[in-house]
Amino acid sequence: MDVLEYDVVILGSGIAGMRAALQAARVSQGRLRIALISKLHAMRSHSVSAEGGISGVLYPGENGDSIELHELDTVKGSDYLDDQPAAELLVNEAVNEIRFFDHLGVPWNRDDAGKIVLRPFGGMSVPRTAFAADKTGFYMMSALYDNLVSFKSAIDVFHEHFVTAISIKNGIFGGMLAIDLATGDFKLFSAKSGIIATGGCARVYGFTTTAYSSTGDGIALAYKAGIPLKDMEFVQFHPTAIVPSGILITEAARGEGGYLVNSEGYRFMEKYAKSKMELAPRDIVSRAIITEIEQGHGVLHGASGLRHVFLDLRHLGEDKLNERLPMIREISIKMNSLDPAKEPIPVRPAAHFTMGGIHTDLNGRVMADDSESRIEGLWAAGECGCVSVHGANRLGSNSLSQCAVWGRITGEDAAKRALSMGSKAVDRTELEAWASEESKGVDKLMSNNSGENPYELRRLMWETMDSLVYVYRTVDGLSKALERITDIKKKYANVRVDDKGKIFNTNLRDVLELGNMIELSEVIVTCAIARKETRGAHAMAEYPKRDDVNFLKHTIAYRTQEAPRLSYTPVVVTKWQPTERKY
Ligand code: FUM
Repeated sequence: MDVLEYDVVILGSGIAGMRAALQAARVSQGRLRIALISKLHAMRSHSVSAEGGISGVLYPGENGDSIELHELDTVKGSDYLDDQPAAELLVNEAVNEIRFFDHLGVPWNRDDAGKIVLRPFGGMSVPRTAFAADKTGFYMMSALYDNLVSFKSAIDVFHEHFVTAISIKNGIFGGMLAIDLATGDFKLFSAKSGIIATGGCARVYGFTTTAYSSTGDGIALAYKAGIPLKDMEFVQFHPTAIVPSGILITEAARGEGGYLVNSEGYRFMEKYAKSKMELAPRDIVSRAIITEIEQGHGVLHGASGLRHVFLDLRHLGEDKLNERLPMIREISIKMNSLDPAKEPIPVRPAAHFTMGGIHTDLNGRVMADDSESRIEGLWAAGECGCVSVHGANRLGSNSLSQCAVWGRITGEDAAKRALSMGSKAVDRTELEAWASEESKGVDKLMSNNSGENPYELRRLMWETMDSLVYVYRTVDGLSKALERITDIKKKYANVRVDDKGKIFNTNLRDVLELGNMIELSEVIVTCAIARKETRGAHAMAEYPKRDDVNFLKHTIAYRTQEAPRLSYTPVVVTKWQPTERKY
């Protein structure tokens, strides 16, 4: 097996991963070797699909905006489950990141005087989202990738390498084991510092705005390596996914003035959030849509059997659609043969974002348990890490800020640690022995000739998550979901890989991803069963109210042989005591 020696290894090449690599290279000034590993071509990471924009207080004082107001919006949006120092760090740093990306060349929309324009987003008190039409993620990724390439001598990019295990021994990070998909051969990356930046796991659902690649691999790898996960019950459902494909119709469509209407053409949000209407936070808008549908005010999409409401953009006019929402127009025309300038778009909520993730401290350092101990040399950044900045519900456009801010912080810290170390903390012989043992797991999978069909198991998982772990959850539904996922997990132990080839074996990759998703589905459902309240995106029919007495706490999940073991840690409340959330 090839052993590749690096100082810093970064897994995941979305905005968080690339931002981390760039920062590590800037700090290193040529003294460190950095590897960036992606299971895709780096530019195909899911951040490239981010549409509506990035939040930050670019113009304090304008429209009454301030750092403190962004912080308060974030805390209130989180249903008071975020750690308030994390919200403070996010909003203080986000604005620097928007400027940083400006210098990298992101073509922000500007007014005639050249000033960056801001658009309104859900749950934000004032417009504070910078954007590049409705392709913000694509432009941010392109800017990062162009700059990474200019650091060619410091950063090696490993496209299409699938990491199967992360080495942690005695609480110290040692490296990562990957399959080079082009050849099918294993490669062992040995490093002083590691960063996981693999995004979220909304693909555990079938109806999702996310790519087929959003399978939560980094979260699952950490979990399998003994690292606790935090707040996994909180999955965000974006209110407006186009029916039937689930492709995202950005919240910016409502920010630019779009309406949500039911089957009678009624603008129903006035019943649910009179002051914010369509720009209430996502948990509230998603619940409103499902309530309308359940009360018989939805429309049936014949071919898929899905019920939906409509997003009406007709009154915005062609010019505005072309300037501000060109991709939304294109998606509607190409996917649904409808022009939003002339017809409303069918939408319903879809799984969009993982608020929970790998348990980290404020600086993205991975925690070893629910005390204060950390894994030495390992960080998590972006959606896969739970730094507790979004709590129970993230506000739209706070995620690109999160990716950029914690990409920068973790890249810098990881590089500084590597610079401060002499030799590597983990002995190479030991690491090689670990890798050889780990690779046997994949060999065993490959040798299975008969057994369960992975695509059937994936279909069952999607059906279970879509129907029983959706916007509204029930005690009975969750317990059925757990039974089914447990059964799927048992069957997965005997899953088969039909393709025995080595070169670009996408069948093997699918099976490995499925294993990761099943682990995470089990955690999501187990954590959801234990949280007997309604908070943010976790809405329980039997417990319709938030319960701060019993549940103002983070859920921590550990992997055991039998089932996830849960414990809890306190929420850090500094400036704002929890109050009723009204919009
Ligand atoms: O609707 C959107 O453009 C999504 C943004 C986000 O999730 O932050």
